[in-house]
Amino acid sequence: MKSFTTYSLLALLFISFESESADSRNDFKPRKMKTNKEKAIAINKAVQSGDAESAAALVTENYIQHTPNVPDGKGGLRILVTKIKNKEIPAPKINNVRVFEDGEFVILHHDVNWPNRKAMFEIYRFENGLAAEHWSGIADHPETTVNGHSMVDGPTEVADKNLTQKNKEFAASCMQTVLINSQFDKLSEFYHPDIIQHNPFIDNTVPGLLKGVEELQKKGISIEIKKIFKVFGEGNFTLVCSEGKFAGKHTAFFDLFRIEDGVIVEHWDVLQEMPEKMAHENGFFKASLYKRIGGYDAIAGFVDLAFPRVSVHPQLQKYFIGHADNSKYRQRQLIIDKLVSTLEGPTIYLGRPLDAVHKGLNITAEEWNVFMQILTHAMDERGIAGDVKQDFVETFQNVFRSVTVESEMSK
Ligand code: HEM
Repeated sequence: MKSFTTYSLLALLFISFESESADSRNDFKPRKMKTNKEKAIAINKAVQSGDAESAAALVTENYIQHTPNVPDGKGGLRILVTKIKNKEIPAPKINNVRVFEDGEFVILHHDVNWPNRKAMFEIYRFENGLAAEHWSGIADHPETTVNGHSMVDGPTEVADKNLTQKNKEFAASCMQTVLINSQFDKLSEFYHPDIIQHNPFIDNTVPGLLKGVEELQKKGISIEIKKIFKVFGEGNFTLVCSEGKFAGKHTAFFDLFRIEDGVIVEHWDVLQEMPEKMAHENGFFKASLYKRIGGYDAIAGFVDLAFPRVSVHPQLQKYFIGHADNSKYRQRQLIIDKLVSTLEGPTIYLGRPLDAVHKGLNITAEEWNVFMQILTHAMDERGIAGDVKQDFVETFQNVFRSVTVESEMSK
């Protein structure tokens, strides 16, 4: 049902980067720009025109880059723009069609010519008046579309600002119900029957969408959206960024909804394949949990704090009676290796499969809860908080619980 680029032009263009160019000294005095929206558009314009200093003056020193093939930091942005200036890569022609703002985030929707027509989303996060983080998604725009609309046309004006939160929740719920839980029969609870569609391969209206999905299924093309990264919104516009698989390939989904009177009346999207290798370690949407938690030492420190407490807890100590010190050291190392590799760190786990190790111990759901309490207290003590704590707890619940608790193991 979605348009799909097999790879972005960026992937082809920015494969090799040299060190920062000599003319990239930070001597540019930024013009006075009031709003983050103006600044986001100005960065984009500076990139197009090859003005490295103007672009660099509007971003933080540690600017976090998520565009797959652009290197990290202010330096990485300078390198990209300098290459455009020197015509080592073609200058993109970008027409910004839509812009909206959600707190510290600015969202741009562009009509791009680079060198063929493309649709693109960019998201900037601002910190103290400078862009501190940047994400993007880009997809080819076919010459003709099934629905007669382009991938970017339609209303641009932000309205109903008082409904921002409600609309964000509605769009997220639509994504969760229809695409993540695959309940296509619930589509009409979210979509207006005459929805205007901008995905080039799908027709307008709800029946048009269902027909498009059916045709994809017939061709054996599957869409699996696995998790929502973030929902951005202002008034009637809501952008849901999520990741999953399209036709078996790891894909980022950017879905923009326009909501009117409590239903989705218009939809635009961009799908981009998420490459395995990027020019930075920040991930397409976010860095690996391994990196965000603080790497190997942070994980080993956490294990050394939490797991000795597990083995002496009155309700859990019975599992560890009679283990020689050497077995405990071995087990400690294996637990660290398992955690590091699960969180996408550079370790290979060489222990036995976890279900085989725990099966027959008869660990109960109640004991698992005690275990998780010990772990979450240890996370608090180690300063593992916010998103990182939430993702770490989810990893234990989603990955390890079913191979530890007896009643939840597959027979
Ligand atoms: C209630 C929670 C848990 C209890 C009571 C528990 C208990 C045990 C026990 C008794 C062993 C030794 C088994 C044997 O050598 O026969 C073991 C091994 C192990 N456990 Fe757990 N475990 C728990 C949760 C976890 C979790 C969440 C992980 C995830 C990293 C984990 C990773 C391991 C590893 C890597 C080994 C060693 C594997 C090997 O020897 O090849 N355990 N566990």
